[in-house]
Amino acid sequence: MKLVSACLLFGLSLSVMAAESTIPLLNMTPDLDDKASLQRGAKTYMNYCLGCHSLQYQRYERTANDLGIPHDLILEHLIFDPDTRIGSLIENSLSLSSAKTWFGAAPPDLTLYTSLKGTPDYIYTYLKSFYADPARPFGVNNLLFENVGMPHVLLDLQGLPRKVCKTKLEADGSTQEPCETDVIVDGRYMLEVDGSGSMSPDEYDRVAYDLTNFLYYVAEPTRQERERLGVYVLLFLAFFFVFTYLLGREYTKEFH
Ligand code: HEC
Repeated sequence: MKLVSACLLFGLSLSVMAAESTIPLLNMTPDLDDKASLQRGAKTYMNYCLGCHSLQYQRYERTANDLGIPHDLILEHLIFDPDTRIGSLIENSLSLSSAKTWFGAAPPDLTLYTSLKGTPDYIYTYLKSFYADPARPFGVNNLLFENVGMPHVLLDLQGLPRKVCKTKLEADGSTQEPCETDVIVDGRYMLEVDGSGSMSPDEYDRVAYDLTNFLYYVAEPTRQERERLGVYVLLFLAFFFVFTYLLGREYTKEFH
């Protein structure tokens, strides 16, 4: 019996380990005070991600108010369908069953994604881990999410990253040969973009950062308010403790 449960535990820990990421995550420190970053992230999200991933627990209005975007700008530039109002939830009209046929998996809602993963580092790393893989339906794979069904939707911006191989790629980069030995530094594969994107690597990093920052905000729009209130609550408790202590001493005085 003990052996069986030991085996079960071992199996369980293995499967938990398997669900862990395969490569070390890149560090990303969110900054909710940086409204310009959050606004840019929101814009990129609406243009490049919303078509497939809804944010169905968040409304346009709240986003506009929190991020300081005027309502008419949202209505004009970020809402693309006539039935959606400023008070609507951020949804899309993608049918999950067709998405499953097209991509092999339905794109999940991303409202709570950074909280679900416990860290914004995950999605930041994910956005920077697409690489060319001719064996996949969309020609790309992802180091963090092996055999991912999602195409590299930011390809126009980033260009196509390739794994850097010890066996040199042909000069024009057109070789379809798989890598014989990948170059790995600090546990991470080295990727090199092919220059076909409209952005420099630094500009693309900023896009990934802003998008992640925005999704970090969306997962808990009241985070800053909660943290601000938390300080007052702790101060109040400290203050209240003094009186409770004095009162307690007064009541128990005669028992000694
Ligand atoms: C053309 C549709 C499409 C677009 C556009 C798209 N995705 Fe995806 N995405 C998918 C699909 C499909 C999956 C599920 C992949 C799987 O499970 O194999 C996915 C998965 C993901 C995941 C991993 C989810 C998980 O299960 O852990 C993240 C994170 C993600 N997308 C972020 C983004 C971001 C950010 C953007 C915008 C830059 C974006 N996606 C744009 C289709 C899309």
